[in-house]
Amino acid sequence: MSGDSFTFTIDGVEVTATPGQTIMEAADAAGIYIPRLCDVEGLRHQGGCRVCTVKASGRSAAACTQPAAPDLVVDNETDHLNTMRRHLVEMLFQEGNHLCPVCEASGNCELQAMAYRLEMVEPFRFPGLEPCRPVDASHPDIALDTNRCISCGRCIRASADVDGKGIFGYVGRGIHRRVAVNGSDLAHTDADINDHAVSRQVCPVGCIIRKREGFSIPIGEREYDHGLIGDEGDSE
Ligand code: SF4
Ligand code: SF4
Ligand code: FES
Repeated sequence: MSGDSFTFTIDGVEVTATPGQTIMEAADAAGIYIPRLCDVEGLRHQGGCRVCTVKASGRSAAACTQPAAPDLVVDNETDHLNTMRRHLVEMLFQEGNHLCPVCEASGNCELQAMAYRLEMVEPFRFPGLEPCRPVDASHPDIALDTNRCISCGRCIRASADVDGKGIFGYVGRGIHRRVAVNGSDLAHTDADINDHAVSRQVCPVGCIIRKREGFSIPIGEREYDHGLIGDEGDSE
């Protein structure tokens, strides 16, 4: 341990952190996986999805935004927390249209992979909203299908903060909130296939589609086809 660094525990394992690090950053550095959907390496933290909720000295906290602190006692892998996370994931399935067998993101999709990790067997606890939104296929290289959107905001942060374009944003409120672009359609924006916002690591599901790349990685050879999200090598 050096300088200002300090220790705290996650599920009884001592972890070292430095001032300003979040619980999740310290966990990642220690090789401990905390489930997440709206957080991804390289983008500022948002704290929106709540899938990363842990108990920090008895209080619920989003691990991606909550700073680590000396002697904090963090619970992560508990039945209670994983049940809560599974309910959140079930709600995300019910808010969108998710037909995994015909989705080109299947096998690479973080929502699907999180459902497997959390042992979600059926999403029918809540009535489905069954949105029917038009797919924007106007751009020569990119398509946008917000029927699968989980409102993680990753495309919004990537486009604004990394690409400096601000192409994606939210419209509507409450359950009607959805992602839209800053033009009449994608073809009338500055979107480019080389934008970080449309790279495969940004959209965790199958909303932002890079045309002509759909099945370049065959089913069975995709990122989560051979192991759970968060297992060694898959942690973001
Ligand atoms: S986005 Fe993910 S969860 Fe939704 S249909 Fe596609 S593979 Fe399934
Ligand atoms: S389009 Fe993808 S990256 Fe953007 S908010 Fe929806 S799920 Fe997240
Ligand atoms: S990953 Fe922390 S709130 Fe989404």
